[in-house]
Amino acid sequence: MKIVIDEISTINKMVAKEITKLVKNNPNAVLGLATGGTPLGIYENLVLDYKENKTNYENVTTFNLDEYVGLDINHEQSYHTYMRKNLFNHININLENTHFPTLENPQSYTKLIKEKSIDIQILGVGSNGHIGFNEPGTSFDSETGYVTLAESTIEDNKRFFDSIEDVPTSAVTMGLKDIMSAKRIMLIAFGKNKAQAIKQLINGKEDEAWPLTILKRHPYVTVYLDKEAASLIE
Ligand code: F6R
Repeated sequence: MKIVIDEISTINKMVAKEITKLVKNNPNAVLGLATGGTPLGIYENLVLDYKENKTNYENVTTFNLDEYVGLDINHEQSYHTYMRKNLFNHININLENTHFPTLENPQSYTKLIKEKSIDIQILGVGSNGHIGFNEPGTSFDSETGYVTLAESTIEDNKRFFDSIEDVPTSAVTMGLKDIMSAKRIMLIAFGKNKAQAIKQLINGKEDEAWPLTILKRHPYVTVYLDKEAASLIE
């Protein structure tokens, strides 16, 4: 596992560059995408690159990690809306090639991911160590499916909603096994509230209580951290 510790703005540029390099070399690239606060700067850089260099996303396929259950896909806080607003509306991606897990299709999502094979999977991490919405205690063998969100996740995500009562309590998420099937994984973590999870990943053992520790098994992971997220590493 490679660890990069740098300024947030530098990391955003580095990760975006890896993505555009992949897409330029392989017009049929398959990307695994995350939402939340962490990847916003990466998407900004991808949009900037598209304006400047017209990187072609016409034949790129994307799989998002997760979507809330109980929010209409057009709700302002749905992950469908997030992706359109922050990336898809600003590049020439074909929306038919963009995929999200839904309650109706969990098994077919896993099947399609296997068929297409993700080239680069972008991951954020929850303060409790979740990746996707695979909360602590999730089996390392999990595939795409319905999950109940942990109290700490609801607490962390309330900043995006008017009140904590508005935060959905469940979601559909890509499973840990699906995430691990990606050829390359880039995990990004910024801020002090990610430091404990990062310490578990770097210094701890594989442990289902800390879902991100499954990444220790993956042959090609890069972890991008700001100083605060790296502050508890021994
Ligand atoms: C989002 C996702 C989550 C987030 C995590 C961190 O698609 O799968 O695992 O990456 O909750 O969220 P932020 O980036 O908002 O701190």
